[in-house]
Amino acid sequence: MQVITIVQTKGGSGKTTTAMLLASAALDAGRRVTLIDGDVNAQLGRWRDSFELAAWETVKKPAWPEALSILSPPETVEGLLSLLEGEEARGVDLVVIDTRPGTHTDTEDFCLISDLVLIPARPVFAEWEMTHRAVLWMDDLRASIAEGERFPAVRVLVMDASEDHRCRHAGRGSQPSPEARPGRLD
Ligand SMILES: Nc1ncnc2c1ncn2[C@@H]1O[C@H](COP(=O)(O)OP(=O)(O)OP(=O)(O)O)[C@@H](O)[C@H]1O
Ligand SMILES: [Mg+2]
Repeated sequence: MQVITIVQTKGGSGKTTTAMLLASAALDAGRRVTLIDGDVNAQLGRWRDSFELAAWETVKKPAWPEALSILSPPETVEGLLSLLEGEEARGVDLVVIDTRPGTHTDTEDFCLISDLVLIPARPVFAEWEMTHRAVLWMDDLRASIAEGERFPAVRVLVMDASEDHRCRHAGRGSQPSPEARPGRLD
């Protein structure tokens, strides 16, 4: 079982979207997935709610995927570790933890029990600046743990925005190039 935590110091940078995309891709590949909603705003919980509340008149309502669970995080690290043990025991392949923006200790706890920390960023100045902060934060966290202790891999996930308005206004067409599709992992 792999555990991925999504972090960013900046709000609205695509953390929850990344968590949902990763879960969807893993489900498509036949994996069992658990999302942990580590953000007090509970955006992921609302994903499930909006699925239930959507107007399904014109399209037949599909079943919520049995292989996808959305859970709230336990309050302690011990609780989190035992939740992960339980998820592994019931055959979950991937756990993705969404977090709130900022540099919080609860997010650090999520990172420390993960195999991979992903920092989503769109290629615009404000996000690069905050991404740099997030990378330095992860460096500090790595430096704070005892030598030889396990630390997750940390990667910046560059996500292209779906439309480049400058290109459109400059008359170069609104279609993104095949290399610049939304959500592409660079
Ligand atoms: N790669 C992307 N390209 C274009 N728009 C995106 C992309 N990723 C996310 N968005 C949009 O940006 C907005 C913020 O995304 P999202 O809610 O995933 O960010 P977040 O980091 O979880 O925010 P918060 O810090 O408030 O939890 C949403 O409207 C989402 O649809
Ligand atoms: Mg979010």
